[in-house]
Amino acid sequence: MGTFTTIAPHGGSLVNRQVREEDREARREQAARLKRLELGLREVSDLMLLGVGGFSPLEGFLTSADYHSVVREGRLASGLPWTIPIILPVSADVAAAVRLGDEIGLWTLGNHLLGTLEVRDKFRYDKEEQARKVFGTTDRHHPAVDYLHNCGEVLVGGPISLLDLPPVDPCYESFLLHPRETRYLFQQKGWRTVVGFQTRNPVHRAHEYIQKCALETVDGLLLHPLVGETKSDDIPGPVRMECYRALMDHYYPRDRVVLSVFPAAMRYAGPREAIFHAVVRKNYGCTHFIVGRDHAGVGNFYGPYDAQRIFERYTPDELAITPMFFDFTFYCRRCAHIVSEKTCRHDEDDRIFFSGTRVRELLARGQSLPEEFTRPEIARILAAASRRHEL
Ligand code: ADX
Repeated sequence: MGTFTTIAPHGGSLVNRQVREEDREARREQAARLKRLELGLREVSDLMLLGVGGFSPLEGFLTSADYHSVVREGRLASGLPWTIPIILPVSADVAAAVRLGDEIGLWTLGNHLLGTLEVRDKFRYDKEEQARKVFGTTDRHHPAVDYLHNCGEVLVGGPISLLDLPPVDPCYESFLLHPRETRYLFQQKGWRTVVGFQTRNPVHRAHEYIQKCALETVDGLLLHPLVGETKSDDIPGPVRMECYRALMDHYYPRDRVVLSVFPAAMRYAGPREAIFHAVVRKNYGCTHFIVGRDHAGVGNFYGPYDAQRIFERYTPDELAITPMFFDFTFYCRRCAHIVSEKTCRHDEDDRIFFSGTRVRELLARGQSLPEEFTRPEIARILAAASRRHEL
């Protein structure tokens, strides 16, 4: 399958690091004899995305020139925008046992062989610098900074080969489409313009509103919830999946929305992650990408519109995907409608909107979420999940 939609993948062509079906058996046997490295959940999802071209133009985990350029400049060494380091950290002991040029087998903790890495580089890195530059803070309360502290001291870089896709939760299986597949689907549907929507939350009415506003001006919407690793107090993916399906069934037009899962891990890098989310969705064939209030934010680490402002640091040509920015959106009692700070003149007291923390508090107390905030079908799914102690 080639590239079908009007938009080129990031860097020009879609990477494919999946081993061809006919070579897989032999490669598996070889790989099983190699030195073995067990990957954490985040690296497993990175490996999958590298393999299927989701992270084009990356062909593997970053080597030092690219790593330093990404951390310091928000670009690959070639100059191409890239804001999140895709890295494979290992302990100093593991690193000492690996030589440049080695091929190593990449496994899940659950003993599945996934692929191999050709070691082109191994280097120590400055975690403080990465935290400061990428996450804007060295505060351990930031989940990604905390994660980084627990990572190995050495990064191993080089191209990967993907032998098998990692096992996924059955609730995602039929929704897991890779970039070649979404591109093909959009072409089949005749969509020339497609807006991508990243989310790690059950879609509430403000989300639905900005998606539908965007959809008014393009051919199709890719509802693309992130289902890789998230922080423990985010609503679990399988519960969110139930919510997305209910929305698709009851509130979204049949022929203009594709629901598919994005298997990446969440970094909570705010502005840096907004650029990353956008260019990666370009690989999936999106021509537009929604960036609302505090995109990929956590706590108060970023200003509400930092994730929009960062787009000024890149030219429209080098990003190629068009960001669609939205102001803070909520229900206003006086307008009797979902509105935004841009379109409503009334007071804050007239607004109905809940933060994620408030939503969890209400659910924990057995209170239902009001219709002004979320659709009743979604409120019921969340209430049931809360009663089952899944939230
Ligand atoms: S995110 O971490 O994936 O960004 P979330 O699922 O809450 O979190 O947000 C998905 C997208 O909707 C992001 O672009 C975010 O900025 C936007 N968004 C979320 N809530 C609002 C809101 N009330 N008003 C405007 N944009 C919002």
